Amino acid sequence: MVAEPSFKRYPRHAGVWKMLTASVCVALLACLHAQELRGHISVILLGATGDLARKYLWQGLFQLYLDEAGKGHSFRFHGAALTTTEQGQEVIAKVLESLSCPRDTAPARCAELKDQFQQLSEYRRLKTAEDYLALSKDIEAWVQREGLREAGRVFYFSVPPFAYADIARNINSSCRPGPGAWLRVALEKPFGHDHRSAQQLATELGSFFQEDEMYRVDHYLGKQVVAQILPFRDQNREALDGLWSRHHVDRVEIIMKETVDAGGRTSFYEEYGVIRDVLQNHLTEILTLVAMELPRNVSSSEAVLQHKLQAFRALRGLQKGSAVLGQYQAYSEQVRRELQKPDGFHSLTPTFAGVLVHIDNLRWEGVPFILMSGKALDERVSYVRILFKNQACCVQSEKHWVPDQSRCLPQQIVFYIGHGELGSPAVLVSRNLFRPSLPSSSWQEVAGRPGLHLFGRPLSDYYAYSPVREQDAYSILISHIFHHRKDSFITTENLLASWVFWTPLLDSLAHEVPRLYPGGAENGRLLDFEFSGNNLAFSQQPLEQLVPGPGSGPTPSDFQVLRAKYRESPLISAWPEELIAKLADDIEATAVQAVRRFGKFHLALSGGSSPIALFQQLATGHYGFPWAHTHLWLADERCVPLWDPESNFQGLQVHLLQHVRVPYYNIHPMPVHLRQRLCAEEDRGAQVYAEEISALVANSSFDLVLLGMGTDGHTASLFPQSPTGLDGEQLVVLTKSPFRPYQRMSLSLPLINRARKVAVLVMGRMKREIAVLVSRVGHEPRKWPISGVLPDSGQLVWYMDYEAFLG
Ligand code: BG6
Repeated sequence: MVAEPSFKRYPRHAGVWKMLTASVCVALLACLHAQELRGHISVILLGATGDLARKYLWQGLFQLYLDEAGKGHSFRFHGAALTTTEQGQEVIAKVLESLSCPRDTAPARCAELKDQFQQLSEYRRLKTAEDYLALSKDIEAWVQREGLREAGRVFYFSVPPFAYADIARNINSSCRPGPGAWLRVALEKPFGHDHRSAQQLATELGSFFQEDEMYRVDHYLGKQVVAQILPFRDQNREALDGLWSRHHVDRVEIIMKETVDAGGRTSFYEEYGVIRDVLQNHLTEILTLVAMELPRNVSSSEAVLQHKLQAFRALRGLQKGSAVLGQYQAYSEQVRRELQKPDGFHSLTPTFAGVLVHIDNLRWEGVPFILMSGKALDERVSYVRILFKNQACCVQSEKHWVPDQSRCLPQQIVFYIGHGELGSPAVLVSRNLFRPSLPSSSWQEVAGRPGLHLFGRPLSDYYAYSPVREQDAYSILISHIFHHRKDSFITTENLLASWVFWTPLLDSLAHEVPRLYPGGAENGRLLDFEFSGNNLAFSQQPLEQLVPGPGSGPTPSDFQVLRAKYRESPLISAWPEELIAKLADDIEATAVQAVRRFGKFHLALSGGSSPIALFQQLATGHYGFPWAHTHLWLADERCVPLWDPESNFQGLQVHLLQHVRVPYYNIHPMPVHLRQRLCAEEDRGAQVYAEEISALVANSSFDLVLLGMGTDGHTASLFPQSPTGLDGEQLVVLTKSPFRPYQRMSLSLPLINRARKVAVLVMGRMKREIAVLVSRVGHEPRKWPISGVLPDSGQLVWYMDYEAFLG
C-alpha cells in the first residue's frame, strides 16, 4: 500500500522496489508471527476498586502495559469486584484517569498511552460461578475475534483472605485458559493467622492451584533495595566473605517505622497486629536474605529457597521475653468507633513490636538481629543496618581520622529501603569498609547532601548508591509475575517455615498488655528497648512501677529468699526468677569447688520443663563456670532418638550445650538409641551407661545430681511402683512411665543417693499438692519415689518456688 505511489514515480527501480516490498512483507509477517507467538494475556484484578488496587495495582498494570505491549503481546485488563457495574465503572474510570507515565514521557504521548490502556480496561462484576464462566467465554470470544493466540491469564487477588477459597474454586472450575496457555494467580497477604491457619489455607489453595501457578506477594521483595540484597552480597563476595559473620558483625537491625496509624483498617488490624502484619512477613524475609548462606547462583529461585529454609531452621525459638510490645494510645478508641465495641473495651493488639532474634549457626551465633516495626512513630523509614564490630584501636587523635581510612569510625552497611531523611532508596557502605560494586546501569552514586547525617555519620562518610530509575514495588512484582520470576515470591514452604517460627511467640504474647505510647514525636524514649542474652526489655520502667500506689500487690523483690526445712533437709524458696538464679549460683559454686579439689565436676541433669530456665541462666549469666572441666550426665532419658524434641538431651543441647564450651568427650548422653532401636534390653544400654559412670566417676558418686518432682511423686524416670531402680544393685535401669513416651532410662535411687549433693527443683502451682503430700510422708519410695531420695553421705537441698511451696 505504502509502496504503490513510489512504483509510479520511480518506474526504473521497479525491480528493486519489488524486492524491498517483498522483504518488508516478510519482516512484517515475521513481526505478526512473533506477535502471534507472544499471544494475548488477560489480567483479572480481583478487588479492583479496593485501596491497594487504587493506590498501586492499576499503576503496576499500566506499567506492565507500557513495558510489554510494544514487544508483541496483546493485553486486556479486567477489573473485577462485587460492586455493581455502574459503581465499579465509575471508580475504575477515576483510577485510570489518575495513572501516571514515566517521568520522561511527553504529556501528549502520556495521554495517548493512557487512552490506549483505558480502551483495554474494563470493569465487571464477578460474584457468581456464572460470572466467572461468562468472563472466560468473553476472553475466548475476544481472542478468536481478534485472531490472537491466548498466552495466559493472571488473576490478582486483592481481596480479604476469607474470599480466597470461593474465588479459587471458581477460577479452577470455569476460568482456566485452554491447553498451551498458562494460569498465574497472585495472592496478597495475610496468608493465615498462625501456623495452623496458614497450613489450612495453603492446603485449600493447593487443591485448586499448582505451586507453580501461585505467586504469594510480599511487596517488600519488590522494593528495589530489598531485591538488591542478594545480588549485592553476590557481587561483593570477595569483600564480604571475611566480614559477614559473628566475628565481625556486631548486630543487625531490620526496621520499618511508620507515622500512619491503623485508623480505617482496624477490622483487619485488630485481628493481626504488628507482628503478623509486618514482622512475620516483610521483616522475616529480609532477615533471611541477610542471614542465609549465599547460594552459588543467586538467581536460581530453587537455590535461594533452599538456603532460606536452611536459615529458618537455624533460628532460635522465641520466648515471651524476646519481644517488647506497644500500642498507640488512640488505638483502642479507633477500634471502639470502627468496630462498634462497647465503651469499656480495651484492645491488646500491639501496634509496635521489637523482637530479638538469634540464629544458632556458626556464622551468626551470638549476633543479635533486632526486628522492629510500629505505627504512629516519629518518622517513616525502613532499612536494614549491619553494624560491624569496632575492633580497631586508633593511635592518632580523632581530628586526624580520615573517613575512608580510619577503622575507628563506625563501619556499617545500610540497605536503606526508603523514605526517612534520605527520602529515597539507597545502599550505603561506610567508606572505611570497602568500595562496593553495584551494576552501573541501574545504580548511581547519590549526589552529596551537605549537612545530612545518617546513622550518626555524614552522608559523605558512605559510598552511597541509589537506583537510576526509582520503581514502585508493585510494578516490579507485576512484571516478575508476567516474566514468571518466582524468586520474588513466597512459596508454601517458605511461608509455613515463617509461621512455625512466629506462632509460639504470638501464642505466648496473646494476653500480654502492650505499653501505651502517645504517638509521633511525643513518644520520646518511651519505646526504647535494650537486650541482653535472649531478652528484650523497655529501657524505661513504666512510671506506675517506680512509684507503687497504695494497694499495689507485692512484687518479687518484696520477698527475701526464704530458707527453711522440708523433709528435714534444707529448703530454699523464692519467686521463680530468684530461685533459678540462686540454684544456678549454688551449682556454679559446687562446680568451682569440685574442680578445685578433684580437677573435674560431674553433674547429672534431669529433663522436663523446670530445668530449662536454669539451663538458660547457666548459659547466659555464668561466665566463671568451669565448663571445660565439667562432665555432663543425664539423670534420665526418654527412649527417643537424641535429636527428637522430646529427648531430654535435646533440651539440654538447645538450652545449654550449644551456648557453652563443654569438651565433647565430657558429654555423656544416655545410650537409649543403639543398633537402630530404642531401649531394647538386649542392647544393654543401661549397663553400658553404668559402666561408663563407674569408669569415670570416682565411686560412682556424682558431685551433683539435679532432680525434679512429678505430680505423682516420681523423680528422674523412677515412677511409683517401678519394678526396677528403687532399690537393688543396678546403677542404671530401664523403666516405664505412665506418660508418653512410655519407655525410659534412669539413674537408680541407690546411684542417686551416692551423690555428694542432690538438688531437687520444684516449680509451679501444679506441684503444690504433691509438695504438701510429700512433706508428710516417710521413706516410701515405692509409692512416692521422691521420698527415697536421701543421699547416703551427701547433702540434699530442696529448691521450691513460692507457688509450689506456698500455693
Ligand atoms: C503492609 C502492611 O504490608 O505494609 C501495612 O499491611 C504497612 O500495615 C505497609 O503500612 C507498609 O508498606 P510500605 O511499602 O509503605 O513501607
